[in-house]
Amino acid sequence: MRKSLVLLSCMFFLLSTALFAQNTNIGSAKCKMCHTGPAKGDQFKKWSESKHSKANTAVGVAGKAECEKCHAPVAEFKAEGVTCEACHGAGSAYKSPTIMKDQKQSVANGLILQTEASCKKCHDASKAPSGHKAITFDYATASAKVSHKKP
Ligand code: HEC
Ligand code: HEC
Ligand code: HEC
Ligand code: HEC
Repeated sequence: MRKSLVLLSCMFFLLSTALFAQNTNIGSAKCKMCHTGPAKGDQFKKWSESKHSKANTAVGVAGKAECEKCHAPVAEFKAEGVTCEACHGAGSAYKSPTIMKDQKQSVANGLILQTEASCKKCHDASKAPSGHKAITFDYATASAKVSHKKP
């Protein structure tokens, strides 16, 4: 009985690593290869010019895990602040052009489509450490500021 339970949990572990092993962070420079230029929506340029790409440089953040969880959440690419993948999910499995051009396949491979709730993982005063700058958040205004839709 106990043996089969152990076996079952081993199988579950192997299955879940097989499903998720591919999803690693690749860095915003890799997304730039395709998501660049005005006709496509200039995602890389808009992000580079936004505060998200510099969030890791906000005063007092460097080296502090309690700050970096919002200001530099992707461990391998802390220098990129709130990276593309901090919002859209780790890209190694969905980055290929055949998968990317199909929304369903992209999502099945880890792409996260954004909603107001995605922003509130960080833009929520109740989650900030005490003494933090006031966080106020209006989704319509804020998303217009960082929007990078195709024209
Ligand atoms: C090899 C080229 C390529 C790479 C690399 C790539 N993408 Fe894409 N991506 C596409 C294509 C093609 C589409 C389809 C829509 C379009 O033409 O803009 C797309 C669509 C998307 C969409 C819109 C999904 C939807 O249906 O709303 C998001 C978000 C996205 N990519 C994010 C990323 C991120 C983040 C990275 C880096 C981790 C990345 N992409 C890397 C080619 C690429
Ligand atoms: C729950 C997520 C979260 C955590 C944790 C967090 N921050 Fe922030 N921080 C934000 C958000 C969101 C903003 C932008 C607020 C705004 O302008 O509405 C911000 C803004 C700031 C700013 C202002 C930057 C500017 O450009 O004016 C500083 C400085 C800052 N944070 C420092 C810190 C430090 C230091 C820590 C750790 C002690 C920390 N933050 C932890 C989410 C967080
Ligand atoms: C992983 C955490 C995180 C997520 C998710 C996130 N943000 Fe942010 N955002 C921040 C931090 C941290 C800052 C402050 C950067 C700084 O000033 O150093 C910020 C700054 C901003 C600013 C600039 C503030 C200003 O008034 O200039 C806007 C606008 C913004 N975010 C919009 C959004 C929207 C819209 C979403 C959801 C689609 C979102 N953010 C998701 C962490 C996050
Ligand atoms: C703060 C979270 C956040 C970050 C960081 C972010 N995105 Fe997005 N992305 C969004 C949201 C929200 C949308 C929905 C459409 C919009 O308002 O731009 C979106 C939409 C997209 C789309 C679809 C555009 C369309 O025409 O519908 C692509 C492609 C994309 N993002 C790529 C990227 C790439 C590449 C990066 C990094 C260079 C990036 N995103 C960084 C939140 C983010």
